[in-house]
Amino acid sequence: MPNKAILEIDGKKYEFPVLIGTENEVAIDISSLRGATKGVITLDPGFKNTGSCESKITFLDGEKGILRHRGYAIEELTKKASFLEVAYLVIFGELPTKAEFNKFEDDIKSHSMVNEEVKNIIDGFPKIAHPMGVLSSLTSALTAFNPGTVNVNSKEDMYQAIVRLLAKFPVLASWAHRINKGLPLNYSDNSLDYISNIMQMMFKIPTEEFKLNPIAVRALDELLILHEDHEQNCSTSTVRIAGSSAAGLFASISAGVSALWGPLHGGANQAVLEMLEEIQKDGGDVDKFINKAKDKNDPFRLMGFGHRVYKNFDPRARIIKKAADELFQDLNLNDPILDIAKHLEEVALKDEYFAERKLYPNVDFYSGIIYRALGVPVEMFTVMFAIGRLPGWIAQWKEMRENGEPIGRPRQLYTGETLRTFKSFEER
Ligand code: ACO
Repeated sequence: MPNKAILEIDGKKYEFPVLIGTENEVAIDISSLRGATKGVITLDPGFKNTGSCESKITFLDGEKGILRHRGYAIEELTKKASFLEVAYLVIFGELPTKAEFNKFEDDIKSHSMVNEEVKNIIDGFPKIAHPMGVLSSLTSALTAFNPGTVNVNSKEDMYQAIVRLLAKFPVLASWAHRINKGLPLNYSDNSLDYISNIMQMMFKIPTEEFKLNPIAVRALDELLILHEDHEQNCSTSTVRIAGSSAAGLFASISAGVSALWGPLHGGANQAVLEMLEEIQKDGGDVDKFINKAKDKNDPFRLMGFGHRVYKNFDPRARIIKKAADELFQDLNLNDPILDIAKHLEEVALKDEYFAERKLYPNVDFYSGIIYRALGVPVEMFTVMFAIGRLPGWIAQWKEMRENGEPIGRPRQLYTGETLRTFKSFEER
C-alpha cells in the first residue's frame, strides 16, 4: 500500500501522506496543499473524487455493489433487524442489547407529542404545498419549540436532541400528508412499534377502525432500513456541512430534507412513478422511452437508473425488487405499473447504452412501487425516504460534532472579471 503521494507543480515536488481505510480504500491527504504551495487548490466539481471526512458509519463499494452499516451487511440487517434497531446501530455504533433497545424505544415514545402550536404554522400553508417543503419547514420550526436542542454541550444533551427528533419527525411527516389530503391530524400511539405507528398516523381515519397489516408493516420496515444511511450523499453532506457551523440538529436535518427533495436525489422515487404512469398513459411502449433516454437531444432520463457511486447493481435495488414481488404476492395485488417497471428494467439491462455507462436500477426504481402498494400517495414518496434516512443524517451529524470537524468551507477557482473601474449609468 502506498504511504505517500508526490505532486509536481512547475518542477517543484510536494509530498502528501496517503491514508488507508479499514477496507483498504486509499486517500491522499491534501489538507496541507494550499499552505505548502502558497495558494494552489484542487478542483473537483460534484466532489466525484473528494472525500470530505473520515467516517466509521457506512461502507459502500459501488463497483462491487456492497453496502454495510458499522460492518454489518445490508442484506443481513434487512432480514434480521427492525428499523429502530438499525437506527441505534447506525447512530451509536453497536447493535443494542435488549435493555438498551427498550430504553431507546421508550425514550423516543416519551417525546412523541409535538407542541400543539405547530398546527398554527401548518394552517399557514396552502393545501397544495408539497409535503417535502412542509416537512423541511416544520423540522426547522421544531427548534423554536425545543431551544435546548441547539447547543448540545454534553453526551446527554445530544442524546436528548436525537430521541426528540426521532420521535417528532414521523409525526410531522404524517401531518404533512394529512393536511395535503384535508384529513384531521393524528397523534402518535405509544402502544405501537415505530413503523406501525407511522402507518397508523398516516392512514387512520376517525370514522373507521384501523387494522394494521403485518405484511405491509414488515415491507415498510424493510424498505426504510434500506434507506437508513448511504455515506456522504448530497443530503447527508448537506446535513454535515450545515451542522459544521454549529447549527443545531433540527436545523441541520431541515437542510438535509431540502437537499433530498430534488429529483436527482430522493425525489427520484416520485419521478420514477410519474415516469411509469406516463409510459402507461402513452400506451406502454417501453422502447420509445428507452430511445428517448438515449437521445442526447432529449432531456429525458430514465428515472431510477444510474447512480453516482454504484457502477454495478445497487444492492438495495436487489433486496427491494424481491420485497416488491413478495408484497404483491402476499397482498394478492396486480399492478400494471409493476409490469411496465419489470419490462423497462429488462430492456434497459440488455441495451448497450446502459451497459456501457454502467447504468443499473437504483433503490428508487422499486421503492415507489412498494409505496404505491402500501397506499402512500406519490407526493409522499420522498417524505418516506426522509423518514428512512433520518437515522443516517443524525449519525453523520453526531459523528461530525464528536470529531470536532472544522466548518465546511470549500474553495473555488475564480473565473470572473478582473478588477474594473465602476461606470455610472450614463457611461454604461
Ligand atoms: N438515463 C439516461 N442516461 C443516463 C442516466 C439515466 N437515468 N443516468 C446517467 N445517464 C448517462 C448520462 O447522460 C451520461 O452519458 P454521457 O457519458 O454520454 O454524457 C452518463 O450516463 C453518465 O451520467 P452522469 O450524469 O455523468 O452520472 P452521475 O454519476 O453524475 O449521475 C445520477 C448520477 C444523477 C443518479 C444520474 O444517473 C441520473 O440522473 N439518474 C436518474 C435520476 C435518479 O434515478 N436518481 C436517483 C439516484 S439514487 C438516490 O439518490 C437515492
